[in-house]
Amino acid sequence: MFETLTAPEADKIIRLMALFAADPRPEKIDLGVGVYRNSQGQTPIMAAVKEAERQIWNAQQSKSYISLAGDKAYLEAVEDLLFTTRGAKAAIATPGGTGALRQCFEALKYLRAGLTVWLPEPTWPNHASILHYLGLQVQTYRFRDEATGGLDHAGMMADLAQVAEGDAVVIHGCCHNPTGIEPSAQVWRDIALTLAKAKALPVIDMAYLGFGNGIEADLTGLRLIAAECPELLVGFSASKSFGLYRDRVGAVLAQCAGPETQTQMQGLLTWLNRQNYAFPPDHGARVVQVILDDPDLRAMWETELTTMRAEINANRQGFADALRAHQMATLADQIAAQRGMFSLLGLSVEQVRRLRENSAIYIVEDSRANLAAMTPMSSRIVAQAISALAKEDQSA
Ligand SMILES: Cc1ncc(COP(=O)(O)O)c(C=O)c1O
Repeated sequence: MFETLTAPEADKIIRLMALFAADPRPEKIDLGVGVYRNSQGQTPIMAAVKEAERQIWNAQQSKSYISLAGDKAYLEAVEDLLFTTRGAKAAIATPGGTGALRQCFEALKYLRAGLTVWLPEPTWPNHASILHYLGLQVQTYRFRDEATGGLDHAGMMADLAQVAEGDAVVIHGCCHNPTGIEPSAQVWRDIALTLAKAKALPVIDMAYLGFGNGIEADLTGLRLIAAECPELLVGFSASKSFGLYRDRVGAVLAQCAGPETQTQMQGLLTWLNRQNYAFPPDHGARVVQVILDDPDLRAMWETELTTMRAEINANRQGFADALRAHQMATLADQIAAQRGMFSLLGLSVEQVRRLRENSAIYIVEDSRANLAAMTPMSSRIVAQAISALAKEDQSA
């Protein structure tokens, strides 16, 4: 039976992880997968997480099932973190942000036959992959201006204005992956008004809260959109913001127009949990809830998140300085202005391959580099290698 199988190809980020793992060169530099690393190259467990786990270990008396939708206290804590008011919201806990997006996309199939889902171009590869897997129609809207490396504001607004009523639009809530482009508050306002006018359904992917400009600032877009659009879905991930990557902590929150639709949406989302994995994982969700609901732990977490953000932004400045030292001021300015873990380095697939093969530097083939894994040393090595690539290509 199995001899007829052909495995689907892994996406470019997963393929790169395998290549990196197989590379024997000790000097290799991993700027591929989106994981924060401190200056010692480690991804430590946050102290607030350790303390919450200790408290849970002491207090927990049972590992029995909780509830199909997930723990209510966790879902309320996430709602309070993301939104300014409670209200008619349906919510489920999910395994990570990917689980949350999968459940959002599955829910879309029940909303309207033939619905189209709009994705920014470019975006995280798993968006399109899951949507195609589910058989949903996908279109893209312009996001990055190739010429400037910044936001294609006019193109984005023109495309979003074309969205048909009831179609879904995926928006990166902050720290756009892979571009690092962060819309200003004014641009977020334009996006919110355009989505509301089109009567589109926003699906906000919130995977990097606190990694851009701070928790409140990173919620600017979500809150403006939530104020303009009566209905929306949020796919939340705690992987990065709480460093809980492997514990798989996420949630879907659906803002509903009223209590009737809230009941129906809650029923749909809970049923989808039952179909896909029944009870969502609880341990990491409980860690997040304990941290958010305890003022001391919350302060500790916010301080640690601030430190991570400051380090990533310092990496950006350091890399920008290294690029300027090699006369790459335009790219340096873009990288310094962008936010979150990622930026595109503007290299071709072929240049990315040479960077990997000749210099043991691993970035994704669209030239996405994870700046949250850089160190002062690696930023100089990468800038030097990119400069050498450009010179090779000029002399060829
Ligand atoms: C844009 C985006 N959304 C969602 C996710 C989901 O993350 P996880 O499933 O690890 O929580 C990621 C992870 O890389 C991401 O980059």
